[in-house]
Amino acid sequence: MTTTTTDRILNFSAGPGVMPEPVLERIREDVWNIDGSGIGVLEHSHRGPVIDRVFDEATARVKSLAGLGDDHEVLFLQGGATMQFGMIPMNFLPEGGTADYPDTGTWTSKAIKEAKRFGTVNVAFEGDACSYDHCPDADELSLSADAAYLHYCSNNTIYGTRYAGPPATTAPLVCDASSEMFARPWPIAEHALVYAGAQKNLGPSGVALVIIRRDFMETACRETISMLDYRQHAKNGSRLNTPPVFGVYAMNLVMGWIEDQGGLAAMAARNDAKATAIYDAIDGSGGFYRGHARAGSRSVMNITFRLPSEALEKTFVAEAKAAGMDGLKGHRSVGGIRASIYNAFPTAGCDTLAQFMGDFAARNG
Ligand SMILES: Cc1ncc(COP(=O)(O)O)c(C=O)c1O
Repeated sequence: MTTTTTDRILNFSAGPGVMPEPVLERIREDVWNIDGSGIGVLEHSHRGPVIDRVFDEATARVKSLAGLGDDHEVLFLQGGATMQFGMIPMNFLPEGGTADYPDTGTWTSKAIKEAKRFGTVNVAFEGDACSYDHCPDADELSLSADAAYLHYCSNNTIYGTRYAGPPATTAPLVCDASSEMFARPWPIAEHALVYAGAQKNLGPSGVALVIIRRDFMETACRETISMLDYRQHAKNGSRLNTPPVFGVYAMNLVMGWIEDQGGLAAMAARNDAKATAIYDAIDGSGGFYRGHARAGSRSVMNITFRLPSEALEKTFVAEAKAAGMDGLKGHRSVGGIRASIYNAFPTAGCDTLAQFMGDFAARNG
């Protein structure tokens, strides 16, 4: 897939991020008139047949891509991934109970802060001691006995690290997959709950995908308001109130595009090749570029690196922008450079960045 239009530039934004161009073109049509109904997707009742079709198709696609049977519910919720930071402990961390939270970066730190409101958090790995440069191996995890669940973040958007596989535990697994949902095959069916804010790999902001195992859902330990109760959302097919229709609609198209690309294995192969082009530029620079993530934990979605000085990083970002590459500035909390190359980011764009990096190092090294 390449960028097909001339007025669009390479978008390395960490999120909201790049969308597949065929999806954007389809949205352009459906905003005017979807399914030949004479009404645009933004204007349909969320309880009419067109939006029924959208929700049914989106649910079926999540199940098919994630390899799920009937044990799991697929929910489309509001409040982003951040709402899940609170909803999960509110529902599943009883007072007096403990949950394991390996801390691998800003987003898990935020999740830990929310969970502490409800019960005891065992920080099973303290990533700040190593500047969050990797995800823990099994022997680095200090797990508690009888944890209500283990919460982890499979890909750390800000530090550019990822797990090779889910952490080994006997506790129910809960995963924040926001910045890599459907970027590689992942044993989602083995999880009690997987969630992802849509705006990186799945579509626009405003909707979070939640996959929850039914038997885990039934262990909810607190009565709460309906909008924060997974069982209520499940009972009502994610339409407890007026749902984020447009987000679900766009996510459905993005998942259709992933299917057209050959599914998750094909997506992963393409993502690996894209990331390799940029990591090779880092590793081949003779130390001009310094990658943040340790080998074995390198993210293929968010590639983070430093230059010899902050002044050079500023120049790098400015010159890249002038060359048609936007969004390369690292997160405000850590600085440096971050290239976010989500599923929809074109392969040719990674080669363009790698070439630019070589050229920039030659001129400034
Ligand atoms: C891994 C991860 N988790 C959670 C969030 C928060 O997502 P939201 O803005 O949807 O609440 C982000 C946002 O960048 C993220 O990257």
